[in-house]
This record gives sequence, structure tokens and C-alpha cells, in this order.
Amino acid sequence: MHPSSSTAAAATTEAPLSVLDQINPILSLLIVSSLSVKTFTGRWQTIRSRLTSLQTSLNSLTSSPSPNWSSNPLLLTLLPNLLSLLLRLHSLLTQCSSSSYSGGKLHMQSDLDISSSSLSDLLHSLDLLLRSGVLQVSNAIVLSQPGVSSSKEDVLLFVKDLFTRLQIGGVEFKRKALESLLQLLSSDEKSAGVVAREGNISYLIHLLDLTGHYAIRELALSAVSVLARCSEESRKSIFEAGALGPLLRLLEVGSVAMKEKAAVAVEAITADLENAWAISAYGGVSVLVEAIRSGSPVTQSHTVGAIRNVAVVDDVRVALAEEAGVPVLVQLLSSSSAAAQEKASCALATLAESGEYFRALIVQERGLQKLMRLIGECSGSEALESVLRAISSLSASAQVSRTLSSSTAFIVQNGELIKHGNLILQHTAVSLLAKLSISDGNKRAISSCTSSLIKLMESPKPVGLNELAAKLLMEVLSVRSNRKDLVKDEKNITRLVHMMDPANEVVAAKRLPVTVLAAMSDSHGCRKRLLAAGAYPHLLRLAEMDVTGARKLAQRLAGSKIKSLFGRAWRA
Ligand SMILES: *[C@@H]1O[C@H](CO)[C@@H](O)[C@H](O)[C@H]1NC(C)=O
Ligand SMILES: *[C@@H]1O[C@H](CO)[C@@H](O)[C@H](O)[C@H]1NC(C)=O
Ligand SMILES: *[C@@H]1O[C@H](CO)[C@@H](O)[C@H](O)[C@H]1NC(C)=O
Repeated sequence: MHPSSSTAAAATTEAPLSVLDQINPILSLLIVSSLSVKTFTGRWQTIRSRLTSLQTSLNSLTSSPSPNWSSNPLLLTLLPNLLSLLLRLHSLLTQCSSSSYSGGKLHMQSDLDISSSSLSDLLHSLDLLLRSGVLQVSNAIVLSQPGVSSSKEDVLLFVKDLFTRLQIGGVEFKRKALESLLQLLSSDEKSAGVVAREGNISYLIHLLDLTGHYAIRELALSAVSVLARCSEESRKSIFEAGALGPLLRLLEVGSVAMKEKAAVAVEAITADLENAWAISAYGGVSVLVEAIRSGSPVTQSHTVGAIRNVAVVDDVRVALAEEAGVPVLVQLLSSSSAAAQEKASCALATLAESGEYFRALIVQERGLQKLMRLIGECSGSEALESVLRAISSLSASAQVSRTLSSSTAFIVQNGELIKHGNLILQHTAVSLLAKLSISDGNKRAISSCTSSLIKLMESPKPVGLNELAAKLLMEVLSVRSNRKDLVKDEKNITRLVHMMDPANEVVAAKRLPVTVLAAMSDSHGCRKRLLAAGAYPHLLRLAEMDVTGARKLAQRLAGSKIKSLFGRAWRA
């Protein structure tokens, strides 16, 4: 008896119950007869113990509390496959028992090994199906895609069912299971957590192997890419299941669409800083750099996002230097994608912060010019923040600082950001300008930002912004005409005086307004304004509190007071 493939195919249409009726007697027969076999006894012993386990599993199957177990579609192929394997084993047993067996010994040995391992695989599949719990419920429920209103239990069972099909079904089952998984993830982001907890993520990752079926690999990659993006829990689970290696491989050799999905996943995984080290452990930096060099705009944008995420790691920076990553990143500053420009700026900022080596390299690739040009072209404030951060990091180099100091356009642009930008932009622009040495002409060009600087001196956060704003304000006010403009406008002086008020708790560093006002107090007009705004009593209190500069400024004002008293007396 040798079952041909046609009998196996025909069997697949048979109902599971009738197949089981054929399986049971032959299984019992095999268990008993294998005891008396004379050749290859060791191998038959192994097979017999597997057959015994099979019998146990089949018993649990038929004693399932749900009458619907037999309608599980996986059994439609699993049981017929078992039957044909048992028939095959029966035929081998007959040959081994016959005294007249004259076939090749090696040939028989290999036939037995193949059958034994198929038996082990099928047993594993059957046990997986039994353990999944999907047989215990109505298939009518399990098979339907859960909707928004589905209960937690429904989603859980659906996921278990799906992974059972994925693991033990054939290509068609796998394909449908992955399509269902993608549909589930797209309709309900929260399901990603259930998938991470209940699904066999290692199995999903293993489908990314280059040896597997192409269409299955594509779908598995889509699922992994979604799981990497949509929840922290699922991202963690795919990373821990070893996704990064296969993803980098697909980013290297996949189709255009695969590269794009792999890049999305790698960017998402590396966003968790504790995963960043793994990129260099997998030798991933060269893959990332190459993916930017030759990838589609989508691949480039997500890959540079990954580089931005991992550039803080020392090993990654060493590898980036070796792989000539800097020119590639600088090139992206001229990309048509705003997202790519922003991420590249961010990566360059991190590199520039790390030391003179990268700063020199970036400048040499004309990165500074490109970044400066981007200030005028950026649309979103986030992109602008990254660009400015990169320039700010570069400005630690003396040569860059000189270039920036001599650019009126750059200084005026930053002045505008101080007036109109969000707090992050204001902070970056203030700290940038405060570091430069600005000519008197350019100080005049940004005179209009004095009132914004005064406001920023009141800002308790970010830490240090108030000091920087005061420093820059002093610079701007070192030009006489700027001081005169400020004094002309009563509101700003009043504001500074109010900042000195000991009762004003918002402004903690009282020495800042004192210093600024002291720098302006050489003008008689200013002193008059200060007195009128009530600065004197504040200063006396601050002097008692030993605030730097308060006593001196109070004395100066006192002088003015006496003069004006005399003036009045004289006129009287
Ligand atoms: C078995 O399945 C049928 C339809 O497929 C369903 O109507 C029935 O409720 C199920 N039985 C159980 C016990 O789940
Ligand atoms: C999950 O899949 C892996 C193969 O990738 C397999 O070795 C393991 O046994 C599976 N785990 C379960 C619980 O099915
Ligand atoms: C003074 O403050 C007002 C309003 O706060 C502002 O409009 C004006 O431009 C400021 N003047 C100067 C010279 O800073």
C-alpha cells in the first residue's frame, strides 16, 4: 500500500469525522505491530512513541466539549495529511516486518527518518491547534473579523485562531491569516497589544526569512511594520523576537515596497533609545547609509529617521564616519521631502554636538550653507527647530561662529524668530545670537526684538533662557540708538521696573532687570523714567536683599532725585 498524492488530494474534501474513522484503526494497528518489527528497532521505537502521543492528542480532539470542533478548516488538511502519513508508515512497517525484505538499507533508513519527522511535525501542529483553544468555541464566531464592538474575548480568540492558521496552515491559510491580521490592526490599533501578547511573534518574524514564500514574506513584513509603529508593547515584542536583523536584511535586498516598509519599522524600533545600540550590533549602519543613497524618497525619509534616532550612540557615529555617512546626510538637506530634511538636520545636529571631527566634516561638505539656506525655506516650525539646532551645534566651531557673525541675513532671520517663533525657536535663536559677536550695524538691524527679549527675561522655562535673553539684550542695548528707542517707549521701561518689584514672584532672578537698567541709566531721560515708574523703592528693597547692582543703581537714581528736587526748588 503506497498512498499516491492523488489519494491525499482526494481526501482533503472528506469530512474530518470520516477521515478520523479511517485514522483510528490504522493507528492502533501500527502501535501494536511496530512492537514486533525486527529491523530498525530503534527508529520504530521513536515512531511508536510519537504514534502513542498522536493517539492521546486525537482523543482530546474528539472529546472536545464543543460539537463544532470538526468544522475547523485546518483539520480539513491536517487529518488527511495524517492519514496518508499513517498509510505510508504502514507500508514501511510491512516491508520491515517481512523476512524477505531485500530493499536498500540506506534507502529504508532515510524513508523512516523522513516519515518520523513528518509525524513529529503533524503532531506538533495538532497540539498547537488543541492548545490554542479555538476548537472549544463555535467557529461561526471565531472566523468572523472582530468589529469595533467585539468583546475582548472575541478579539483574543480571533488572534489565537489567526496565529494557529499562520503556523500550521499551508500557503493559502497563511496568506489569509496575514490579510486578516493586517485588517485587524488597521481597524483597531488597540488590537496590537493583544497580538503582541497572544500571537507567536517569533513565528511572524521567522516569515521574514529570505528562504520563505515571497508573497507571505511581503505580508508578514507589512504586519511587522504596523506592529512596530502602532504600540509600544507590540514594538517591544517584535524587537525582542529579533526583528531587527531580518528587517535590516530586507532594507538591504528587498523590493522597493519592502524596503519602504522595513525602513518604517526600523525607524519605529530605533525610536526606543534602549534599542538603538542594536543597530551597530547588527552592523546596520552601512545598510542604513546605502538605503539612503539608493532608496526611494519614502525609504530615505524613514531611514534617515532611524539614523537620527541612533546617532547618539558612540559606535554608530564611528560607523557613520567609516561609511561616509555625513555627505549622504548633507545631501538630504536638499531633498524634496520636508520630513527628510528635518530628520537629516536633526541627525547632523547630534553629530555636530559630538565633537569637532563631525563639525569639520559637515562644514567641509557645505552643510552649513545648506542649513542656513533652509532657514528661509522651511515651512513647519519643527523643521526649523531641527535646522536651527544643527546650526547651533555647528557654531561651537570658531570658523562657523565667524561665518554666522558676519551674516546680516542670518542675524535678522534669528531676530525675526525671537519676535515671532514658538518658545523652542525663540530659545534656540536667543542662545545662538548670544554666542555670536555681532557688529553694531547688525545690532541696529535687530533692534525691534528688544521688547521680545524683555518678555523672555520673565520666562521661567526653559532653564537659562532668561539669562541668555538678558545677555543678548545687553548686547543689543550696547548701541546708543537702541537704548534711546527703548527709553522712548514707556511701556518697556515699566515692564522692566515691574520685574524688579520684590513682590513680583514670577521673576526670580532680580539681578537681570537690575543689570539691564543699570546699563541704560547713563541717560538722564532713562533715570527720569525709572523714577516715574517707581523703581527707587524696589531698588532699596533689593539692595537690602543684597541683589547685585541694586545698591549702585539706587544711588544713581538718588542723585537724579536730588537734582530734580533742586530743579523744582529753583523754578519755585
Ligand atoms: C456550532 O456552529 C453552528 C453554526 O456553524 C452554530 O449555530 C452553533 O451555535 C455552534 N455550536 C456551538 C456549541 O458553539
Ligand atoms: C512559536 O514559533 C516558533 C518558531 O518560530 C516555534 O519554535 C515555537 O514553538 C512557537 N511557539 C508556540 C507557543 O507555538
Ligand atoms: C516696547 O513695548 C511695546 C509693547 O510691549 C512694543 O510694541 C514696542 O515696540 C517696544 N519698543 C521698543 C523700542 O522695544
